[in-house]
Amino acid sequence: MRVRLRYAAWALTVLRAALAAQPSAAPPVSAPLRELPWGQLNFLHTTDTHGWHAGHLQEPSFSADWGDYISLAERLHEKADKEGVDLLLVDTGDRIEGNGLYDASIPRGFYTLKIFGEQDVDVLCSGNHELYKNTSSENEYYETVPDFLGNYLASNLDIIDPKTGQQRPLAQRFKKFTTKNQGIRVLAFGFLFNFRGNSNNTVVQRVQETIKEKWFQEAIRDREVDLFLVVGHVPLRTQEFASIYKAIREQQWDVTIQFFGGHTHIRDYAKYDSKAYGLESGRYMETIGFMSINGLPTGGKSNSLSIDIAAPRAARAASPTFSRRYIDNNLFSFHQHTDLNDTTFPTEHGRNVSSMIALAREALKLDKTYGCAPRDYWTNRAPYPSKNSIFSWLQDEVLPDMVLDVDRADVPRMVLTNTGALRFDIFRGPFTVDTTYTVSPFTSGFRYIKDVPFSIAKRLLQIINQEVPQLWPASQSLAFELPVRSVEASTHTVDERLLFAGGQMPLGKDHALDHDVELTPGYTTTDDAGSDGDDTIHAPIRFYRVPNALESRIGFPSATTEESKESADPVSVDLVYVDFIESYILLALKFLGTDYAERDTAVYMEGRDMTGLIAQWVQEHWQC
Ligand SMILES: *[C@@H]1O[C@H](CO)[C@@H](O)[C@H](O)[C@H]1NC(C)=O
Ligand SMILES: *[C@@H]1O[C@H](CO)[C@@H](O)[C@H](O)[C@H]1NC(C)=O
Ligand SMILES: *[C@@H]1O[C@H](CO)[C@@H](O)[C@H](O)[C@H]1NC(C)=O
Ligand SMILES: *[C@@H]1O[C@H](CO)[C@@H](O)[C@H](O)[C@H]1NC(C)=O
Repeated sequence: MRVRLRYAAWALTVLRAALAAQPSAAPPVSAPLRELPWGQLNFLHTTDTHGWHAGHLQEPSFSADWGDYISLAERLHEKADKEGVDLLLVDTGDRIEGNGLYDASIPRGFYTLKIFGEQDVDVLCSGNHELYKNTSSENEYYETVPDFLGNYLASNLDIIDPKTGQQRPLAQRFKKFTTKNQGIRVLAFGFLFNFRGNSNNTVVQRVQETIKEKWFQEAIRDREVDLFLVVGHVPLRTQEFASIYKAIREQQWDVTIQFFGGHTHIRDYAKYDSKAYGLESGRYMETIGFMSINGLPTGGKSNSLSIDIAAPRAARAASPTFSRRYIDNNLFSFHQHTDLNDTTFPTEHGRNVSSMIALAREALKLDKTYGCAPRDYWTNRAPYPSKNSIFSWLQDEVLPDMVLDVDRADVPRMVLTNTGALRFDIFRGPFTVDTTYTVSPFTSGFRYIKDVPFSIAKRLLQIINQEVPQLWPASQSLAFELPVRSVEASTHTVDERLLFAGGQMPLGKDHALDHDVELTPGYTTTDDAGSDGDDTIHAPIRFYRVPNALESRIGFPSATTEESKESADPVSVDLVYVDFIESYILLALKFLGTDYAERDTAVYMEGRDMTGLIAQWVQEHWQC
């Protein structure tokens, strides 16, 4: 496929004055772009936005906000209507938790639910994060489902109605509709992976059970369907999607199937067969996924297509073609893809929503500065340990300064925390209220076991990093999901709570494309269709794996010489840990032949949590 590159140097100066996006957002930077591969049926896809609806204020590549996305969708709809093709919007869940815009309000989500609700999304579903708390799933039930009535699908998800106590579908199970311009008959489902960590007011049915149900079996036997659309908070390469794919194919061997997935926070595109593909569109409002299909049977409506792409319904056997593009979420990309500029691009509705977001951020004081970071601290873009590793910073600076319980002040302590407790990078410059939530959105406190023999304690880290992950059966969700708030920790499944921060993102590969321009670092995705999926051509970024957990030793007697080290080791220590990982600590202790149990644990530093410790440390150490 020929790729047309565009490079517009003027855009840099023009965009400095860009009007939309958040006022404090970094202006986008111009870069060579691949165009959108328009087709007969087109999709825009968001997933795992986790409250980042204001965009990334410190990262030019991802600095557009949800209002800009509304403008983008409106402009692309105008274009689709003009061309007589169709455009559908899809969101696959995890819209909440992970950003101050969601987390800092009381009640949480007060602003983001309304902001998200402004977009016209055609098909959406729930993620796992919507279900950790009764209140968040009830928000879905009372607010998001009615906002998107008929579009919100819950194929394998029920809720206990708080008023009646009855179990009922969170939303309708599936939806059938015909597209506006092409008359394509679509049958859509909305799934969640086999999640078990939900609060007990929701019921997630295993996908493998759902597909045996009568309603599903009837739906997939419908012959009056041109496209099965399976949206899911489900990674593309999982048993869950494989089972759905197989069930549909058993009934209809040649109908086109399009999957949209999420949960693993990556850009990914998978081919199931020549008529079945899936797209996953990253995380945190970094990516707007674009997907198109050509050669679908149509309803025979006349149109003014500039490209001859539609196949008559009789010619179903003709093979459709599929294309994907991962759009970097910034105004430079949006303007290029719409052939508009900063005066002509924003729509009134988009601007209104950008203002809603700005007002919410102001009300929440998210730009309030605690201090200024002297350099970047990375989760995965710097090796651990190193001076640019956020985990080295936590281990060597923050925890030693902050972890102290006045009642146990004289006792040496070992602090264990999972690396998943820190969720996002810190950029050089202002460290704001917003930053505390993006870095550490979890309200986990600390617990401890007193006077653990040092000979045992010193072996724990290795056990947790190497042995504990193997004590549970492998699961599709094991490697990806970040841990969540401690409040419901006891209801999480074990696999949901482990984090392997490494490997979340595709590793960069060199592009064969020629270009004279200096590339900015960013996503360089390789998927089942090759390495030409990203809209913006970036220089690759290297990602490093980090261990599951790290350890700080605090208040140890100081050894003066190498020889005296052994004798300077304490006999016993307070074993302190983030309460979120208590079950792992206890398991590892069992593995080491001890019989510590929950009764031996207690709260350490009453009322303090990781987020608060970090905010305080920054205030005390990082003056601007
Ligand atoms: C849900 O769990 C709570 C305690 O966590 C319990 O009181 C309640 O009865 C449970 N509800 C259902 C429907 O199982
Ligand atoms: C959540 O809802 C369930 C079912 O209605 C109820 O049994 C449980 O007590 C609720 N839990 C909390 C923490 O409110
Ligand atoms: C944007 O495009 C319009 C229409 O092409 C043009 O009149 C206007 O000068 C452009 N604005 C900027 C800032 O380039
Ligand atoms: C935008 O906001 C203005 C002022 O609140 C309102 O009058 C207008 O109807 C809104 N327009 C859209 C499209 O939402």
